[in-house]
Amino acid sequence: MATDETDNKFATKAVHSGTKHIEGAVNTPIFQSSTYKLTEERYAGWAAGAQHTLLYSRLSSVNSDAATEKICAMEGAEDGLLFASGMAAISTTLLGLLSHGDHCVSAPDVYGGTYGLMTEELPRFGIEVTFADMTDPSSYEAAIQDNTKILYIETISNPTLKVADVPAFAEIAQRHNLLLIIDNTFATPWATQPITMGCDLVIHSTTKYLGGHSDIVGGAVVGDAELIATLFLKKVHFGGCLDPHACYLLERGMRTLHARMPIHVSNSMDLAQRLEQHPMVHSVNQPMIEGDSQYEIAQKIMPRGTGMLAFTLHGGDEAATKFVSSLELIFEATSLGGVESLAECPFNTSHMFVPEDVRIDAGINPGFVRISVGIEDVEDLWNDISQALSSI
Ligand SMILES: Cc1ncc(COP(=O)(O)O)c(C=O)c1O
Repeated sequence: MATDETDNKFATKAVHSGTKHIEGAVNTPIFQSSTYKLTEERYAGWAAGAQHTLLYSRLSSVNSDAATEKICAMEGAEDGLLFASGMAAISTTLLGLLSHGDHCVSAPDVYGGTYGLMTEELPRFGIEVTFADMTDPSSYEAAIQDNTKILYIETISNPTLKVADVPAFAEIAQRHNLLLIIDNTFATPWATQPITMGCDLVIHSTTKYLGGHSDIVGGAVVGDAELIATLFLKKVHFGGCLDPHACYLLERGMRTLHARMPIHVSNSMDLAQRLEQHPMVHSVNQPMIEGDSQYEIAQKIMPRGTGMLAFTLHGGDEAATKFVSSLELIFEATSLGGVESLAECPFNTSHMFVPEDVRIDAGINPGFVRISVGIEDVEDLWNDISQALSSI
């Protein structure tokens, strides 16, 4: 699917970067070992801080090194860390970089787990979070206080698919000497590389598109080497490491990211256009479709698009729950980014614990359905959606 030199280079990185050809192996073998022989070199590495020395698999492993290097190559990052989940990556980053008395600006429509961390956990440690509007960088600037340390955004918000004007946030962060941290899970480095637009750290739930096959849970933080060195020590203390076998599956999944993504995107756009014509559908969110409120900003930030799709049905949440339970090919399940299509209603899944008024303010109205469009045959997907719509 490569269309220009940049695509080719990305494809080569996706396939080859980070691979450890141990004993001439084509792929990085699975090193299912919790610990490594202490040699003089390793003692020296330990004394120097342990970050890039194979000592013990909570710190790093052959397989975490391989997968981390691949993500760094794809994101254009200096260094990175893997975690046991996307939430482990997010919580270690925020708890690791913020202290009692610090302040962070975020948005109410960040991933529900991140919202919960920011509203229920960070305040317990004296860390304050103000919520602003991710579609309006000036609202973030207005929320900055003397003790603000971090601006936190997502490339495309979950589930309403609003696209952040990343360079505008970067300009504000730089002017106020703040860190800009972005969750790039929904977009992927194939679609956009936020570090090139001025972000300091990029976070992934690697459970999603990077893994790509709904068979692992994992997370990553990549970016500025000094920040990653700080976070390495926090990861060692908090302990949320990714097991070597899961690292291996992640590395294997990422080798085909560039091959999978164009199919996710074209299927999602095709279904969005058909849904727009359907009488049961009130509105559709797909930022790659002309006329979508996010179309222009998406063209600027991530013109290659997203495989995510959301729509609101007439008939409210009753119609939405009936719709998802009537699907036969598309699996009714939370999560996203795998080769198979998954559908959910955010109100009773990913955003169940987000207060109703906050959900509605974020655009998650009654009848809202989110589909992570897979790489199946698009006619089969449409036939399934049509039959489920007719059963409401
Ligand atoms: C955008 C985003 N960030 C982070 C997470 C959390 O990732 P994990 O489930 O791997 O902990 C999710 C999970 O759905 C997500 O959608």
